Amino acid sequence: HPPVRSICCIGAGYVGGPTCSIIAARCPHIDVTIVDINPARIAAWNSDPDPLTGDLTGLPVFEPGLSDIVKECRGRNLFFSTDVDEAIRKADLVFVSVNTPTKKSGVGAGYAADLHYVESSTRRIAQVATSSKIIVEKSTVPCRTASSMRVILESNSRPGIHFDILSNPEFLAEGTAMRDLQAPDRVLIGSLDTESGQCAADRLSEVYENWVPAERIYMTGLWSSELSKLAANALLAQRISSINSLAAICESTGASIHEVAHACGLDRRIGPQFLQASVGFGGSCFQKDILNLVYLSESLGLTPVANYWKQVIEMNEWSKNRFAHKVVQTLFNTITGKKVAVLGFSFKDNTGDTRESPAITVCRFFRRELARVSIYDPKVPEAQIHADLVDREHDATGVVAPQGTNNVTVCSSALEACKDAEAVVVLSPWREFRCENLDWGHIYENMSKPAFVFDGRAMLDAEKLKKIGFKVHAVGTGPEKTDAWL
Ligand code: NAD
Ligand code: UDX
Repeated sequence: HPPVRSICCIGAGYVGGPTCSIIAARCPHIDVTIVDINPARIAAWNSDPDPLTGDLTGLPVFEPGLSDIVKECRGRNLFFSTDVDEAIRKADLVFVSVNTPTKKSGVGAGYAADLHYVESSTRRIAQVATSSKIIVEKSTVPCRTASSMRVILESNSRPGIHFDILSNPEFLAEGTAMRDLQAPDRVLIGSLDTESGQCAADRLSEVYENWVPAERIYMTGLWSSELSKLAANALLAQRISSINSLAAICESTGASIHEVAHACGLDRRIGPQFLQASVGFGGSCFQKDILNLVYLSESLGLTPVANYWKQVIEMNEWSKNRFAHKVVQTLFNTITGKKVAVLGFSFKDNTGDTRESPAITVCRFFRRELARVSIYDPKVPEAQIHADLVDREHDATGVVAPQGTNNVTVCSSALEACKDAEAVVVLSPWREFRCENLDWGHIYENMSKPAFVFDGRAMLDAEKLKKIGFKVHAVGTGPEKTDAWL
């Protein structure tokens, strides 16, 4: 393989867009074309800057710092296009960065990854390529997917054309994607142990070496690389489920999850990160990737392994429901007709993404209890909130909720959402909700009394809120200290 001069990225989503924008910024000598079959998404990537601020506010993905990078590179060596075939043809290296959601029906439904987007991209590459290429799995895929891709490529390509497949999973987290991409903890490249496989891996490594120190680039076998991605997400999610299980113990004993997490995190073998108690984890990756790992374990006949990891998800489901239940219980066992304000709908701060957001589970719970739910989120569009909360025929518990999304109001500020509410429920940890940034005194004045705050992110200064007059319940904080001594 010659050095890489032209890259095609199939899939202009949360991963393909930011990842390849950074490559374009750090490698001005490489042409990068990001393609997608969704014309609306490509049009949004190509949208004009806001005439007043000059910012690219129309991009389909909100990530701090992304619009500046796109502005710098777009039209120079970064292109967004729906012409998939042309971009494949001229590329030396093709990233496959398409979605791999959990299968909804058929064999493995509810667990296995739906690989049909990966397969159709692979077939397309085989059909249109007129020269040899390096194909890189960027999507998160089950272990040994590269082997299926190889069969598809070899059976459908023109004579004399050779493909090498690499695994190069992406570890960025949303909300900090640009920072994670500019200074990754590691870049993982998996390849076959053949001369040509190693050469392909070296070529991809050279691309990253334009900004990533060589010692952070870790070369492994293909299957280890594929499995490491599922493993890393499973281990991270496991920490959150572990801390959330302990948060429940704290709430009934008077121990504080802040203190427990800090005390445990001081042990260097444990470390302080990813021990923030919460209503539960969300996002498009953790649940999907663990289900995928569960399916893989089950297919290998390793039922105890499957059950072990499944428990991480079950604990998460339980945490979300436990929290919602606590709200209802505290509001004198009924929220029927009551106004409940929800602050934060995205699955975490600094993103407008709502995939698997805990807010969806919690708001659906409130709706089934016939509350009036008013929601404010700094980045999630109103239409997205309605789309996430619209009733399906039956939910997981078999309960039919009221039709449509009546009784859901999306507000344009926290103050508006909280006006006349009986309770404020904080569900994503946006900085602007913190006591120093939001006028909680004003919110209190305009609420029904007693005024409750339920802090699903254990992020607010409870003492400050109590001084204002609020009754405060935070994840992982127990009963009042006086009770705790009894
Ligand atoms: P996404 O849904 O935002 O983007 C995927 C894009 O691929 C979509 O725009 C879709 O239209 C396009 N696509 C599908 N099939 C196509 C085809 N045949 N040709 C051209 N385009 C096609 O998904 P995402 O969040 O970017 O995730 C992509 C992959 O990366 C997934 O496997 C995911 O597990 C993994 N991943 C995601 C994250 C994250 O934070 N979102 C982090 C690490 C890894
Ligand atoms: C995750 C992985 O971190 C990333 O490496 C991978 O590439 C994709 O999946 P992401 O889902 O974007 O990234 O965000 P992350 O920061 O991991 O948060 C996931 C969820 O866990 C969020 O809902 C977050 O609020 C929650 N969380 C995180 C906690 O509840 N407590 C914590 O201590 C950390």
